[in-house]
Order: sequence, then C-alpha cells, then structure tokens
Amino acid sequence: MRIALSLALVLVGAPAFAASADPATGEQIAKAECASCHAIGIDDESRDRKAPRFVDVAKMPSTTELSLKVFLRSSHKNMPNIILSREEIDSLASYILGLGGK
Ligand code: HEC
Repeated sequence: MRIALSLALVLVGAPAFAASADPATGEQIAKAECASCHAIGIDDESRDRKAPRFVDVAKMPSTTELSLKVFLRSSHKNMPNIILSREEIDSLASYILGLGGK
C-alpha cells in the first residue's frame, strides 16, 4: 500500500510539484511515507513510539526550515532511507513547520 502510494505520487505528482514548497503536497507525502511511524497531524499519536509527532517536532525551539531540510537530506538509523527530491523536502518542511505555526 505504501509503496503503491509512493509510486502514484512519483508518477502523477513529480512534474506538478516541481515549482516549490507546497504544504498540501507535503501532507500527502507525509501520509504516504511517514505516517507508518510518525503522527503527522495535530491530534494523532505516533504509531512508532520512538518517532516524535510532527507537531512536537515543529514546536521544538531548535526546529527551523533549514534544520528540517538538512535532517531530511541525511539518513538516520531509526528511519528507513526514504529518498526524497528537493521539492518533496521543501513541501514536507513547510507542512511540518505549519503544524507548529512557524
Ligand atoms: C520506520 C519509521 C519511520 C518512518 C517511516 C519515518 N520516521 Fe522520522 N523518525 C523515526 C524515529 C524512530 C525517529 C526518532 C529517532 C531519530 O531521530 O532517528 C524519527 C525522527 C524524525 C525527525 C527528527 C525530529 C528531531 O528530533 O529533530 C524528523 C524531522 C522526522 N523523523 C521526519 C520524518 C519524515 C518527514 C518522514 C517521512 C518522509 C519520516 N520521518 C519517516 C521513525 C520514522
């Protein structure tokens, strides 16, 4: 299911979100790629207890657009190596920051 969704996103979405950061696109990517572990909304709980809720990530004082983008470009031992394009990273960052009102 997740793979099918990501594939659909790649096939249908790639040309469409080449322009720039779009939080609505970020939310779609979050649902497809991140929701299996992270709470991606404002009132849900993470499925993987070690994964922080995106709203909590957004509210951390240390979280900035740059810190998120840098994080999403690198790989982490507890997260699978999800390969994201620059546009996807920009959209995810703007979606996550928006949850915290940033
Ligand atoms: C297989 C489970 C899993 C998936 C899928 C996953 N994550 Fe994570 N993520 C984690 C865990 C566990 C942590 C906490 C430990 C760590 O930092 O490595 C984490 C940490 C993070 C953090 C760091 C928060 C901080 O402390 O600064 C961010 C941001 C994040 N994830 C974003 C994402 C995004 C965006 C996606 C989807 C593209 C995603 N994650 C997919 C498990 C996952």
